[in-house]
Amino acid sequence: MKFFLDTANIEDIRKGVSLGLVDGVTTNPSLVAKEGKSLEDVAKEICDLVDGPVSLEVVSTESKDIIEEARRLAKVHENAVVKIPMIEEGLKALKVVSQEGIRVNVTLIFSATQALLAAKNGAIIVSPFVGRLDDISTDGMDLISDILTIYDNYGFDTEVLVASIRSPMHVLQSALMGAHIATMPYKIMEQMVKHPLSEIGLKKFLADWEKHKQLVHD
Ligand code: G3P
Repeated sequence: MKFFLDTANIEDIRKGVSLGLVDGVTTNPSLVAKEGKSLEDVAKEICDLVDGPVSLEVVSTESKDIIEEARRLAKVHENAVVKIPMIEEGLKALKVVSQEGIRVNVTLIFSATQALLAAKNGAIIVSPFVGRLDDISTDGMDLISDILTIYDNYGFDTEVLVASIRSPMHVLQSALMGAHIATMPYKIMEQMVKHPLSEIGLKKFLADWEKHKQLVHD
C-alpha cells in the first residue's frame, strides 16, 4: 500500500519524508493557495524532496483549456501527475491527454460510476473523497469497496487513491479493502505512529534499565 501526503506544505513533506513513509504527494488548488506560492514553484520544491508521483491540479473547466494546462503541468517534472476534475469537460480532456501518455489522476470522485468513467477514459489514478461523503452522512468507505470491485471485475489498472482522509480509521479500512494508495495530511501519519501502550511500555523499559544500571554499578 502506498502512502501519499495530501499537502503543499514543504515542512510537513520534509517530516513525512524523514519518516521514510512518503511514496508520493497530492495537492489541490486549496492546498496550494494556503502556501501563498505559485503551483510551479511549489511543484518543483515538492518534486525535489519526494521520489514519487506528485499530483498537480488543473483549474480550467473547458476541455481545450484543461488539455493545454495538463500538457504544461506534465512538463513541470517527470514525476508530475495531472489532476483533472470529474466533469464532462474533464472526461473529454482526459481521453485526449491520456492517449498522449500524460498520467492523469481524476479527482472529485463521489460515485462508483464516476470512477468507472474515469478508468475507461484512461485515468491512472482516481481520487474518491471519503471524508466529504462521511460529512454528508454517507459512508465514504462503501464507495472505495465498490470501486475496487468494479476495477477487479474488468481488470482496470487504474489505482484507487483514497482521498479526503480524516482519521487513521480511514487508512485502516482502506488497507483492509486493498486500496492502492491512501493520501493523508501529515497529522494522520503522526497519529498512526502513536499508541499509548507503546509509550507506557517504553517508559517502563527505560525505567527498569536505569534501575538495572544502578545495581550493576553498586
Ligand atoms: O486533495 C483532495 C482531498 O484529499 C481533500 O481533502 O480534507 O479537503 O476533504 P479534504
